[in-house]
Amino acid sequence: MRPTRLPVPPPWQNLDRYQFQHCGLNWNFGLIYYIISTVTIEEIYQLAIKMGIGADPRGKEGVAKYLARQKKAYEELSTSKKEDFDLESLKNPYSDTRILFGDSSVNVDKIMAGIDFDTGEVVLADRLNQKGESIDLLIAHHPSGGALASLHEVMDLQVDLMASYGVPINVAEGMLSERVSEVRRKIGPINHYRSVDAARLLGLPFMCIHTVWDNLGWRFMAGIFEKKDYETVGDVMDILKTIPEYKQAIKYKAGPTIYWGSEKNRAGRVAVSEFTGGTEGAKEIYEKLSHAGIGTIIGMHVSEEHREEAKKYHINLIIAGHIVSDSVGANLFLDELEKRGITIIPASGLIRVNRLKTRTKRS
Ligand SMILES: [Fe+2]
Repeated sequence: MRPTRLPVPPPWQNLDRYQFQHCGLNWNFGLIYYIISTVTIEEIYQLAIKMGIGADPRGKEGVAKYLARQKKAYEELSTSKKEDFDLESLKNPYSDTRILFGDSSVNVDKIMAGIDFDTGEVVLADRLNQKGESIDLLIAHHPSGGALASLHEVMDLQVDLMASYGVPINVAEGMLSERVSEVRRKIGPINHYRSVDAARLLGLPFMCIHTVWDNLGWRFMAGIFEKKDYETVGDVMDILKTIPEYKQAIKYKAGPTIYWGSEKNRAGRVAVSEFTGGTEGAKEIYEKLSHAGIGTIIGMHVSEEHREEAKKYHINLIIAGHIVSDSVGANLFLDELEKRGITIIPASGLIRVNRLKTRTKRS
């Protein structure tokens, strides 16, 4: 049996605080704790849910209301329909964050983490293990399996997010409902289980953490760009380019770009409105955001249709970059795993920045 875990591991730098003397010997309680402690797949999954809720634009209360709505919907189902209901969705508000394969009680010392894990990444992890890496768990950002097939379910989050920017909640809800159906139809025909089957065949535990990481990225970015005023779009870009992940992305030729507007344009109120909530929302929302007083939107990626709407309603549109923006949220979570003694192998486009060590690993 694995040892019982204490709630928070001792920070590396504070190990001295845990020293004590007994039987004439110096004991370091923190070090002893670190040596005996282990982290399971289930604990990583629960940490993801906890951190996702902590950073959720709906706030803890909003998430609790969402889960209560889920519970009510479940209770109103007939017995036969209840059998098909995803009971996990009564506890986890993120349909795109799931353990896809593997025994959740397995201890984890080393993970391979990245943005997109297809069969290639799964085979890569297996090959690395053949070379002696001992990877215990794969963590992808973009969902696979049932987590991909139900991606549209997390889009409900966007209703509250748009309401927080001043769009009436009923309008946001009405506009999003058609878009949610569209996303559902679009992802329906995909072969959702390819990489999950590859992980199963190779016996590699596999998890995806999507909206949780996007929530972390959104909160981080909103903390920088929504809490103070910026004179121009250029001023916003200048700050964006100082964030380590974006600095690196610029070197990769995949950094932030102004999709509509110009550096000299007045920024107005800035909204990091396209960072979380599953995928791109309804294009009609640009008109409503413009009327609500939003002058500049920062997003991860955008379709041409959305760009046209931004242009039509005079909203400056900064596209920070997709994979790099996914990396921001990923890194905030992966730092927590490193704190718990887990080794991380970055893969599949992840620009790993360790804020515990304040240095990049791929520069
Ligand atoms: Fe993404």
